[in-house]
Amino acid sequence: MPLLSRDNPPLTQRVALGKKLFHDKSLSKDGTISCTTCHHENKAFTDGLKFSKGINDQEGDKNSMTLFNLA
Ligand code: HEC
Repeated sequence: MPLLSRDNPPLTQRVALGKKLFHDKSLSKDGTISCTTCHHENKAFTDGLKFSKGINDQEGDKNSMTLFNLA
C-alpha cells in the first residue's frame, strides 16, 4: 500500500484544515480539550504522561502514543 493515497494528496488547504481540526477544542464534549492536549507537537505528539487525561481530568489507562508516520 502506498504511504500517501493518490486520491488524497496532502494539498496545502487540506494540511491547514487538518491542523485547524487538530487544535479545535470544540470537538470535545465540554470544549476543553483538543487532539493536541494528548498529542502535543513539542512532545513527539504525546503528552508525556503515564496515563492520558480526558475531560473533567478523567484519567484513562493508556498513554498517548506518538503520531509520526502512521499514514
Ligand atoms: C484524552 C487524550 C487523547 C485525546 C484528546 C486524543 N487522543 Fe489520540 N490517542 C490517545 C491515546 C491514549 C492513544 C493510544 C491508544 C492505545 O494505546 O490503544 C491514542 C492514539 C491515537 C492514534 C493511533 C491509533 C492507532 O491505533 O494507531 C491516532 C491516529 C490518534 N490518537 C489521533 C488523535 C486525533 C486525530 C485526536 C483528535 C481528534 C486525538 N487523537 C485525541 C489519547 C488521546
